[in-house]
Amino acid sequence: MSENASIESVLQETRTFPPPSTFSAQANIGSEEEYQELWQRAKDDPAGFWGDMAQNLSWFQPYESVMDGDMPNTKWFTGGKINVSYNCLDRHLETDRRNKAAIIWEGETGETRVLRYQDLHREVCKFANVLKGLGVETGDRITLYMPMIPELTIAMLACCRIGAVHSIIFGGFSADAVADRNNDAQAKLVITADGGWRRGKEIPLKAAVDASLEKSPSVENVVVVRRTGGDVDMVPDRDHWYHDLMQGASADCDAVELDAEHPLFILYTSGSTGKPKGVLHTSAGYLLGTTMTSKWVFDLKEDDTYWCTADIGWITGHSYITYGPLSNGASVVMYEGAPNWPDEGRFWEIVEKYQVSIFYTAPTAIRAFIKWGDQWPEKYDLSSLRLLGTVGEPINPEAWMWYHQVIGQERCPIVDTWWQTETGGIMISPLPGVTPTKPGSCARPLPGVVPDIVTEAGESLDANQGGLLVMTQPWPHMLRTLYGDHDRFLETYFSTIDGCYFAGDGARRDDDGYIWVMGRVDDVINVSGHRLSTMEVESALVAHDKVAEAAVVGFPHEIKGEGICCFVTLKGDDGTDELKKELIQHVREQIGALATPDQIRFAASVPKTRSGKIMRRLLRDIAAGRESTQDTTTLEDYTVLAKLRAEEE
Ligand code: WTA
Repeated sequence: MSENASIESVLQETRTFPPPSTFSAQANIGSEEEYQELWQRAKDDPAGFWGDMAQNLSWFQPYESVMDGDMPNTKWFTGGKINVSYNCLDRHLETDRRNKAAIIWEGETGETRVLRYQDLHREVCKFANVLKGLGVETGDRITLYMPMIPELTIAMLACCRIGAVHSIIFGGFSADAVADRNNDAQAKLVITADGGWRRGKEIPLKAAVDASLEKSPSVENVVVVRRTGGDVDMVPDRDHWYHDLMQGASADCDAVELDAEHPLFILYTSGSTGKPKGVLHTSAGYLLGTTMTSKWVFDLKEDDTYWCTADIGWITGHSYITYGPLSNGASVVMYEGAPNWPDEGRFWEIVEKYQVSIFYTAPTAIRAFIKWGDQWPEKYDLSSLRLLGTVGEPINPEAWMWYHQVIGQERCPIVDTWWQTETGGIMISPLPGVTPTKPGSCARPLPGVVPDIVTEAGESLDANQGGLLVMTQPWPHMLRTLYGDHDRFLETYFSTIDGCYFAGDGARRDDDGYIWVMGRVDDVINVSGHRLSTMEVESALVAHDKVAEAAVVGFPHEIKGEGICCFVTLKGDDGTDELKKELIQHVREQIGALATPDQIRFAASVPKTRSGKIMRRLLRDIAAGRESTQDTTTLEDYTVLAKLRAEEE
């Protein structure tokens, strides 16, 4: 983007929903004054503020200073000794929580397992001893390639109990992706399962690990959980059944006293080019961030039943299925499978069955629910819900309204949470007892987060001007480096705007100071010299009652520079030329002639990453009629691309 140019915002949304007064009355942060005071204090005196917050954690040895050094190399809680597993488990055993459900697990095939805090603690201690028995030492990297089963949480907490660094790879990735990540991290051990269930089919995880190990020689041992009972090859001396190892293991294992900045985990996230980036988070700062944001944003209470539908292979599952909620002693629902298995009511059946009170999901899932129809949620009792959340991409206002009306029954506040793998925890979000919400806006920064919206030259923009979303102050749960490549870390996040963190999103602030994220700046298109956010055109399309999902990209256009190409998935109807005209007209009416689509292409589905984000860079190639040279290793369903190309012909 040229210096000083801003991104034009065409999205108009004026509805506002104040928090219900009954919610505010019981909320962890309950008033605007309290929010303002916390936010201002954290901005003016971050060390004092985060030092006070750190009293929510249990320390083996107090730190000497809260923060040292400027962004991006700020060190947090120097001198302090801590253990994340201790904070998520042991400290609860001294309270009534020891008998409380920590994990309420539902398998795709219908079975249930409940692990109370003391059960989880016992299993984690045993497995930590198993790891030690296999020669794992503090600082070693361990790959976890597992289905959504309690053993995944057990393995995570066992790693951090002994100071091993986990690297979780989503269970749908290919053997090559596992090998690349094993090699990058020089992983010593892999924990996997025979397989996992997804829509009634078995995903053969162990077979993929076997194939990956031909290319990743650093791995010495493999631990295999039996989940599906499928056939697997066990290589003698290298491969071990989890249940065999656990049988003889002692349940006595003290949590190691680790430095505050001890590495906690690596999580690979795809870059737009080149090899995946190994985002590294460390112990105390990350734990503090996820602990506090869980309290503030999800308003966690002792009797909540909390369910985040993400996969643990994604940062949302790390921060808001495992570390944040367990550090708060919450009861966490964990579901193994797909939302439409055995039918499209599965999520709502789970909400009813476990009386879920807090529900956190992604806009892509919400759009799928809308497509499947209201009859599914209507079959179940959703009255236990008190708070809803979304994460992962901008939520279009129509999907927000549906979530509010059909799932929240106009009773539950919605927290639209903006954050990233790199930020470790939620950065910008409504506080459910305080913030009047506006559909499509993630509202305002949390205490400790000081964002700005700037031009490429780094100048702050006024209200209603779109620009780059940056962070101007360090926060405890930010990434510390990209594993093994600190130069790439500096270049990727700190070279665009002097002295600020920038990770690629465009946004604007409205007159009330609310932030509206406009998607990745790479997805901005330039139509006749006007820079438009593709996400806003998508939002307009999805507001049409026949449209389920839309992905908008630019393509080279002789006259306009870039033209607007819209891939549209319909709710039911077949796409006709009539409907194409209607949709073009609809977008013109909603956001103006400038945004008139040049092409509408109906598609059965659009390519997405496994965390549900539309892969617009692939669609750009299709729209331009180019062969794609893009990295597709994070694509959820490879057949989608072939289908889209076929539809073109
Ligand atoms: C996008 C997910 C708008 C954004 C936790 C960000 C969002 C990227 C929101 C990070 C939201 C996430 N509103 N956009 N509430 N939440 N994003 O690393 O583009 O998988 O940069 O982390 O998702 O994705 P990641």
